[in-house]
Amino acid sequence: MKHPSLLPALVFAARVIAFPSYASLAGLSEREFESILPTLEYREPALPPGPQKDPSAKLVNDKAHPWKPLRRGDIRGPCPGLNTLASHGYLPRNGVATPVQIINAIQEGFNMENSLAIFVTYGAHLVDGNLITDLLSIGHKTPVTGPDPPHPAIVGGLNTHAVFEGDASMTRGDDFFGNNHDFNATLFDQFVDFSNRFGAGKYNLTVAAELRFKRIQDSIGTNPQFSFVSPRYFTAYAESVFPINFFIDGRRNDGQLDMDAARGFFQFSRMPDGFFRPNGTRSTEGLDQVFLAHPMQPGANLGQVNSYTLDPTSADFSTFCLLYENFVNETVKGLYPNPTGKLRKALNTNLDFFFQGLNGSGCEQVFPYGRD
Ligand code: HEM
Ligand SMILES: *[C@@H]1O[C@H](CO)[C@@H](O)[C@H](O)[C@H]1NC(C)=O
Ligand SMILES: *[C@@H]1O[C@H](CO)[C@@H](O)[C@H](O)[C@H]1NC(C)=O
Ligand SMILES: *[C@@H]1O[C@H](CO)[C@@H](O)[C@H](O)[C@H]1NC(C)=O
Ligand SMILES: *[C@@H]1O[C@H](CO)[C@@H](O)[C@H](O)[C@H]1NC(C)=O
Ligand SMILES: *[C@@H]1O[C@H](CO)[C@@H](O)[C@H](O)[C@H]1NC(C)=O
Repeated sequence: MKHPSLLPALVFAARVIAFPSYASLAGLSEREFESILPTLEYREPALPPGPQKDPSAKLVNDKAHPWKPLRRGDIRGPCPGLNTLASHGYLPRNGVATPVQIINAIQEGFNMENSLAIFVTYGAHLVDGNLITDLLSIGHKTPVTGPDPPHPAIVGGLNTHAVFEGDASMTRGDDFFGNNHDFNATLFDQFVDFSNRFGAGKYNLTVAAELRFKRIQDSIGTNPQFSFVSPRYFTAYAESVFPINFFIDGRRNDGQLDMDAARGFFQFSRMPDGFFRPNGTRSTEGLDQVFLAHPMQPGANLGQVNSYTLDPTSADFSTFCLLYENFVNETVKGLYPNPTGKLRKALNTNLDFFFQGLNGSGCEQVFPYGRD
């Protein structure tokens, strides 16, 4: 090589060309950001959709939304709800979507209540999405070739660990063990076993409470880096009730999810034939029952197994607004300490949308980048 000094620049150029339009811009150096920005098409974020006019039960596994197998390059991730919506065409089948598409899909396909839909979608988009192109991937792991090990923020979407995705999932492993997003058959066997033991073969709130506790105890005992603080603390409990609230046919409405249906959603991103969405909107109903069966306070292992230590700085169920404030002040601000121009504008717009999901909660909006 005659001009070794050129090498880093060339490799860096390759990395820039490879930058996916849906990857998060968090954590890039100023130099990286400046080279990537001109390759991205800026899209003004559209307003979040409101509630549906008619949320009654209806056939959602319909002719217009058939399940289809994955094509090469289609992205799926840790969330069986979004994976299923993509595999039925409620979301783009490639697994890359705008927040508005996601909100419309989770409302139309599963009847998620409007403010929760807004809150989780913009929460995820702020930390895992591309705020310039307005795109979020439901879990990519595309390695970006480059001189450095791939940046954690470049490989990610919803697979990104610790900002939204977290430990002690029911059917996905902890990030520490190397795969936090694919369906894990051993863990699903445990899901079935718990449903047999505590639900006579169905997943219900009694099972949810026992399995939630078991997954936490497993992580405490096996994952030295186990973390169970806000926001994961909240999403772990919420996701334990989602299968009951969203995956049960709206004509049955009995709180008992059968194992064929469960496997369809968790493993194959597939609704049962003839599936009706719930009858009316649903949110986190049942969460209290799951929590109160085995109340756990937020905390983490301290680098060794069985060293779970409470973290009084984390939000918990008695300090809900702190979840919001810490997420904005620390998580989002930590990812984007000093944004300017279009990026700052997009952050502020998406932070406003995120806060709309808390309308009526009594929390006060915070403005880490000033008001526009
Ligand atoms: C009605 C809509 C939704 C349903 C039914 C749903 C369902 C679920 C369930 C059951 C899990 C737990 C998986 C497990 O423990 O094995 C989960 C995980 C997850 N969901 Fe969703 N979800 C929905 C909407 C969303 C939205 C809108 C987002 C973000 C845009 C999202 C992001 C995630 C992520 C990142 C995880 C992984 C958490 C982890 O395991 O660390 N979900 N979802
Ligand atoms: C699935 O989870 C089990 C239990 O945590 C673990 O031992 C196993 O290695 C995981 N399998 C894969 C393929 O990741
Ligand atoms: C779950 O199923 C078991 C077995 O049928 C039953 O005893 C329990 O009451 C059910 N729990 C709920 C909340 O439906
Ligand atoms: C949905 O609930 C309403 C009452 O709120 C009821 O009239 C209707 O029959 C239910 N639909 C289905 C499919 O069960
Ligand atoms: C917030 O809720 C109030 C009623 O509770 C409603 O009038 C207002 O339009 C809502 N604002 C947003 C931004 O959704
Ligand atoms: C978040 O930052 C705002 C200032 O932008 C401040 O008023 C508020 O107290 C902070 N909240 C927390 C929990 O740090």
